[in-house]
Amino acid sequence: MSQTEINMTKSESIGGIPEQGMAGEELLDSLRIERAGDLNWRGGKAFSLVYNSDDPELERVQHEVAAEFLHENALNPFRYKTLLRMESEILTMAKGLFHAGHAALTSGGTESIFLAVLTARERAAARGVTSPTLVCAVTAHPAFAKACHYLGLEMIRTEVSADGRANPEAISAAIDDRTALVVASAPCYPFGVIDPISEIAAHAQNRDVLCHVDACLGGYLLPFWEALGQEVPPWDFRVEGVTSISADIHKYGYAFKGASTVLYRDRDLYQLQIFMYDSWPGGLYASSTAAGTRPGSPIAGAWATMNHLGIEGYMRLARRVLNATNGLKDGINAIDGLRITSNPDMSLFEFGVDQDAPASLSIEAVGDVMDDRGWNLDRQQGGLHVMTSPGHDKIIDAFVSDLQFAVANHGEARGEEHIYGGAVS
Ligand SMILES: Cc1ncc(COP(=O)(O)O)c(C=O)c1O
Repeated sequence: MSQTEINMTKSESIGGIPEQGMAGEELLDSLRIERAGDLNWRGGKAFSLVYNSDDPELERVQHEVAAEFLHENALNPFRYKTLLRMESEILTMAKGLFHAGHAALTSGGTESIFLAVLTARERAAARGVTSPTLVCAVTAHPAFAKACHYLGLEMIRTEVSADGRANPEAISAAIDDRTALVVASAPCYPFGVIDPISEIAAHAQNRDVLCHVDACLGGYLLPFWEALGQEVPPWDFRVEGVTSISADIHKYGYAFKGASTVLYRDRDLYQLQIFMYDSWPGGLYASSTAAGTRPGSPIAGAWATMNHLGIEGYMRLARRVLNATNGLKDGINAIDGLRITSNPDMSLFEFGVDQDAPASLSIEAVGDVMDDRGWNLDRQQGGLHVMTSPGHDKIIDAFVSDLQFAVANHGEARGEEHIYGGAVS
């Protein structure tokens, strides 16, 4: 029996952990080699999952601050007062950006959405609703479907208008006595369009129903987009009837992963997500989000990012995102046979085949050629998805020229699946 086999046999008897630990350098080297084959977000060829600020000094600060707070736990915020101060300053900034609200810092958009759905369910339950529903357009993020599934709400999905935006009349028609929450997106992921939030929120308010705005994508970019002179329809707490908002700092706020915010217009609503338990021999247990143990690094990282960038930094990055978006959109529009879906309001969009294009032009096959050239464009039902980060301002010409090549030279589509998130068992 070889030494490896002996080690494996022994380790299996305990539970799969290697019998002998691996030396630090050896372990790190092997990971670096393996990782060279993973998606390279720094090169500008990836369009989702990582929001590349392309700012080496910000990255350096983030690495240092992550290491400083790596082991700390914000479960009991009174033990790590620096984390407590940073968290409360992040929330103050969020409330300022979105114009009032009571806020909590969470691990990501999905947790923020879960909490908003839970809050709505609790409010509905207090009013005697025993089988609550959530009404949203088909474009709302799957996190709402997941929240409904976990939290026992029925999801009512409405069709969007021709422009890809939620249809306020369809939403209004779906509201009834069971409705706990109405959802609108700012913007939605598939098409990058902002739903008509004023109208949707007015319908919800008229029926005394809560209205959540999912600004996981737009929350930390739209205020700067507007300041750059872009047309941004009203979407935050300045719109009457909007009762909660989710907004991710780990997306266009450029923090590393693990930081989002959920905000409520009213304190009473916010309090519905707070959990207190005083019947445990271990002592009083209280938390304002779903997590128990809360890693310190994402809190410190979000605080450091917001303070290092400041308004000036966010404006600089927003300008780069805008230039990249416009450059890519113009380049795509100039290619015969392609069209951008709808009229995106922010920095993400879908493009597909124009209805007048020859039947032989296949967007799936175009995606295959782009894949072969190292680009990573997510496939959607109607086309390919682009979401720009600041670093994409450096790749506009290369992208457009490869896309032209792909349109002119593709073969049959290989039949790649449309995958947005994967499950591992
Ligand atoms: C519009 C929107 N809402 C919610 C989410 C969920 O965020 P997270 O993946 O951080 O849980 C996403 C993620 O891309 C999103 O685009």
